[in-house]
Amino acid sequence: MAQTAQLTIDGRSYQLPLLTGSEEERALDITGLRQQTGLITLDSGYGNTGSCRSAITFIDGEKGILRYRGYPIEELAAHSSFLEVAYLLIYGELPSEQQLTAFKNNVTCHTMIHEDLKHIYQAFPPDAHPMAPLSAVVSALSTFYQDALDPLNPEHVELAICRLLGKLPTIAAYAYKKSIGQPFIYPDDRLEYAANFLQMMFSVPPEPYQVDPELSHTLDQLFLVHADHEQNCSASTVRMVGSSRANLFASISAGISALWGPLHGGANQGVLEMLQRIADDGGNVEKYVALAKDKSSGFRLMGFGHRVYKNFDPRARMLKQECDIVLGKLGIEDPLLDIARRLEETALHDEYFIERKLYPNVDFYSGTIYRAMGFPLNMFPVLFAIGRLPGWIAQWKEMIEHHERIARPRQLYVGPQQRHYLPLDQRGS
Ligand code: SDX
Repeated sequence: MAQTAQLTIDGRSYQLPLLTGSEEERALDITGLRQQTGLITLDSGYGNTGSCRSAITFIDGEKGILRYRGYPIEELAAHSSFLEVAYLLIYGELPSEQQLTAFKNNVTCHTMIHEDLKHIYQAFPPDAHPMAPLSAVVSALSTFYQDALDPLNPEHVELAICRLLGKLPTIAAYAYKKSIGQPFIYPDDRLEYAANFLQMMFSVPPEPYQVDPELSHTLDQLFLVHADHEQNCSASTVRMVGSSRANLFASISAGISALWGPLHGGANQGVLEMLQRIADDGGNVEKYVALAKDKSSGFRLMGFGHRVYKNFDPRARMLKQECDIVLGKLGIEDPLLDIARRLEETALHDEYFIERKLYPNVDFYSGTIYRAMGFPLNMFPVLFAIGRLPGWIAQWKEMIEHHERIARPRQLYVGPQQRHYLPLDQRGS
């Protein structure tokens, strides 16, 4: 029997359906609230509001659980690969060997971009943040690939998915090469996904370049743990833009812009900038923990806290271990990593952080690994975008396949009540 909740307003009672998800999460269905009561709900930042039913990713913030299509992130990181996880997120099941081979081939054959697309990079100044050309070129893909724009045509969608997965690393690497005045390096389709990206990023024509297989594996793992995270800010943006039936390229371009913010995917860059600031200030970790607790300072510990995780972000735990492995392998003693460790230790024992359940999130350690691998700071959010692309695609595809209505939230109006136009000569000074 369907469960309901009773709501009493102005002496009248209303019954609202109670829904239960596959992990026993419960939700109050307010789809009919305004029609029944004339009221809306208000939930700034949507901390209490579910925007959809989704079968893609499950997070238990209290227990620090993250699963893609039911598979624990720890198992996928130990046994899977980024493209296999991309397939899982987008199509819902782990692929057979034949399906995975076909999927990899379909992605790999789309790694080049149209030569005319390169001209867009010339319009950007050398010091442009690479997230700007990334978003611009992804949006421009819709003008070069007009045979894959119809969100309701499965063949168009399939083609757009493979083109995006194939081209995003190329688009990203070209943004970096433009910023350092080096020639664009074409993709080499004999290489695996992450290795191909590394050679586009770091090889130069006059010299031979050998991808380090262990670093390529680490980067593949980093992409994998970033691949989806249910209804985060950028995924919700992709869903919202897609709900107007904008094409997939336009929706992903919007997601890239949302991810750029320092409170979201830009935090990995923010963490390193914060660690460097602490290092430049004598490594005084206690001073910056105190600053972070002082609301008037406007300073936050980047890489700390999360809307959903009120326990350790499982990805942070995994990346902390990966950090030790990568820096050990590269023989790097990174003073910023020592500061990061001291910062974490101090914050995790501080009442302010404990009572607010603020723990390191995915961004706290990822930047240290990226830096050790030679990526420049402003490429960190770009790396996050490459990793998150399959999740954005899966979320957009699920929204389209569920024929969801255009997203159009309501508001509580607090502006002036009706008033009438005053001619200029009757207005005060
Ligand atoms: C990502 O949503 C996702 O899933 C995102 C992500 C993904 O995979 O897509 O996980 C990736 O974006 C991770 C988060 C990266 N951002 C940062 O590291 C930036 C620093 N963190 C914060 O700005 C903050 O914690 C957020 C943005 C992550 C979460 O913000 P919320 O949920 O709106 O929390 P809040 O701002 O309401 O903070 C609650 C309290 C406040 O104190 P009080 O007003 O209760 O006294 O905690 C405090 C905040 O001041 N607080 C912090 C803090 N984060 C929260 N205080 C100091 N330092 C921090 N980092």
